[in-house]
Amino acid sequence: MSNRVSWLDNAVFYEIYPQSFKDTDSDGIGNINGITEKLGYIKELGCNAIWINPCFLSPFGDAGYDVEDYCTVAPRYGTNDDLIRLFGEAHKLGMHVILDLVPGHTSVQHRWFKESMKAEKNEFTDRYVWTDSIWEDTKGIPVISGISDRDGACVVNFFSIQPALNYGFYNPDPNKKWQQPMDAEGPIATREALKDVMRFWLSAGCDGFRVDMAGSLVKNDPEQKGTIALWQDVRAFLDEEFPNAAMVSEWGEPDKSIIGGFHMDFLLHFGPSHYNDLFRCEEPYFSKDGKGTAKEFIAKYKENYEKTGGKGLICIPSGNHDMGRLSQRLDEDELRLAFAFLLSMPGAPFIYYGDEIGMRYVEGLKSKEGGFGRTGSRSPMQWDKTVNAGFSAASPEKLYIPLDSDKNRPDAESQMNDENSLRSEVKRLIALRMSKTALQSRGKIEFLSDGYPMVYKRSDENGAITVVINPSAEKAEVLCADANKIIYTVGGKAELRDGKIFADGCTAVFAE
Ligand code: BGC
Repeated sequence: MSNRVSWLDNAVFYEIYPQSFKDTDSDGIGNINGITEKLGYIKELGCNAIWINPCFLSPFGDAGYDVEDYCTVAPRYGTNDDLIRLFGEAHKLGMHVILDLVPGHTSVQHRWFKESMKAEKNEFTDRYVWTDSIWEDTKGIPVISGISDRDGACVVNFFSIQPALNYGFYNPDPNKKWQQPMDAEGPIATREALKDVMRFWLSAGCDGFRVDMAGSLVKNDPEQKGTIALWQDVRAFLDEEFPNAAMVSEWGEPDKSIIGGFHMDFLLHFGPSHYNDLFRCEEPYFSKDGKGTAKEFIAKYKENYEKTGGKGLICIPSGNHDMGRLSQRLDEDELRLAFAFLLSMPGAPFIYYGDEIGMRYVEGLKSKEGGFGRTGSRSPMQWDKTVNAGFSAASPEKLYIPLDSDKNRPDAESQMNDENSLRSEVKRLIALRMSKTALQSRGKIEFLSDGYPMVYKRSDENGAITVVINPSAEKAEVLCADANKIIYTVGGKAELRDGKIFADGCTAVFAE
């Protein structure tokens, strides 16, 4: 179990896809100095932490999740010094920055992989998971083959340009010598190399990591016991050298990840979470039609919450670079309620850049750098009404990904000047969360209703807040004996009388 990193208790993260945030050198692609320039914007919104997608040297076959050198910022984003300056400037504003750590695989361009492809045995021969013979039947496990002098094929971790790093096998097949146990020399060296990468950036001032595919490291590990043990070893290293480093896993099984020493785990949009039932299906729960359901989402959430001993350190994102935009199926009123929910749940909320202004999924874009259907959620941030929406001074055809071409596209500046805008609503909801510890990461949650409306109570030693989320157009009436005043309302009107909350359709209510 990890020590507590106190700033996570009230963290509200802003996820930045660096390619598309702000370009300060007019080459059509965002950069680190652009992020530094916009720290004030993020702070003004109320977010106090940032997660930056991989910004390291890479051939960009998977938008940087194919790392060529973990310790060098990609020149298109700037230099290591720029990133270190960003850490410093963020800290001056009381903000924290976590980087994206991709421990499961590298790019085929990484020096480790190039060395491991050589026929002669060397330091990196066992850095990746290689079979002994190129002809070996891997029983459907995807491999890279036929590209090296070395005999054998290399197991793939995601796309076929992302060879799997070797952390060993939990249950190695005794007839397959290449399936090394976790404590063999090669896997131990890989693990130490991972610690060196973490040490490098933590010493440079970064505040922690979002860990990509954190559950994928040890192979043949059906219950992930080996992977958990591996992370516990990393935890021991962090406790020793960097006790204040925050660790957030992309795992989707908070019981495993928290035992492994992570502070928080992401709720994944795929797999069994039912996250998409809320926002991204034919009939989302958050639609005014009121035909959706949150029942399975809540059941699964509760199951995970209980498995973590009621710690509930589950981070629910508004979106991310891997899924459609939140606004794809929800209109502005519905988005407000989605944010009322997202910003009042336990665990640290993550706002994907541009979701706070309702940026749209850009349809019909050609895939960029392994984005495929994800490309439409990765378009440039819309800052204002100037050329290229203030993202870049490059000519429009040079932009890394085209902008949303809709002439009514939302922009940050207009919304900052309008107190009725979605962004102003998000800002108020963040401020509300910051003012009530019960609404923050560690406050308890108890669900009182899983239909329309959804009702839950958040509480801690400082008090209790009842949250009523009523996305449907129908009015709602909720028994609420223990609250005596409404502290915030989103959408329509609400009233607290005779021990009941009466809420208009498409309205959220906070009462204490
Ligand atoms: C990242 C993706 C990436 C994949 C492989 C994911 O979880 O979020 O963007 O393609 O890992 O690294």
